[in-house]
Amino acid sequence: MNIVLMGLPGAGKGTQADRIVEKYGTPHISTGDMFRAAIQEGTELGVKAKSFMDQGALVPDEVTIGIVRERLSKSDCDNGFLLDGFPRTVPQAEALDRLLADMGRKIEHVINIQVEKEELIARLTGRRICKVCGTSYHLLFNPPQVEGVCDKDGGELYQRADDNPETVTNRLEVNMNQTAPLLAFYDSKEVLVNIDGQQDIKDVFKDLDAVLLESVQ
Ligand code: AP5
Ligand code: MG
Ligand code: ZN
Repeated sequence: MNIVLMGLPGAGKGTQADRIVEKYGTPHISTGDMFRAAIQEGTELGVKAKSFMDQGALVPDEVTIGIVRERLSKSDCDNGFLLDGFPRTVPQAEALDRLLADMGRKIEHVINIQVEKEELIARLTGRRICKVCGTSYHLLFNPPQVEGVCDKDGGELYQRADDNPETVTNRLEVNMNQTAPLLAFYDSKEVLVNIDGQQDIKDVFKDLDAVLLESVQ
């Protein structure tokens, strides 16, 4: 399955991606996760990305397209991929189309998880993430069994650097501006599927999985 998960910050892309990976084992490619790993490792890419991410701005297209090109060329993507948070601009979407065409492949579905802005702000500011495995929790909506501790591995939970109210507002604005033309782009290619993201996590997955089941048959 060649799938793109779209949705504004906090829509639940990462949360749903975890469930998709669990069920189908498809490689999960999150450009945000890749940038955060590069920052952690102190690489040149990390240094470049950090200044943009800290402001809630987008990392320049050429940098982002470069890391996705490299990642998609790895052999674990031969049977499919799950892109999360890429593409985020029309030039990125066009670059992805060219990249996939070169590989003799194309996107099957672009799944857009829709959530209202007020709900997104509440989700982002209450999010906590495991230092060990990266699983996302929420203080109110999806709390761990023990406060501050990951259910899966006992890892310590932390708050993402860009989840403070000020940066959240900026991220939402930046992403909302880019989203409309991108949705139009995929709608015109008849690959866009909208999903109601304002339901329980398991119900969002049910709707999403119905789309995926169609593409694995
Ligand atoms: P990235 O890491 O992709 O951040 P984002 O797009 O802002 O999205 P999030 O990861 O914040 O949200 P999510 O949809 O994954 O939500 P989650 O499942 O965690 O990108 C970070 C930065 O990197 C960007 O700002 C940019 O600078 C740069 N970047 C990345 N890609 C780029 C690109 N292509 N081009 C340029 N720059 C790029 O859920 C959120 C919270 O809600 C959690 O607490 C969760 O438990 C909770 N939750 C989830 N689902 C539900 C539900 N159904 N009900 C209630 N709560 C829920
Ligand atoms: Mg995410
Ligand atoms: Zn964990």
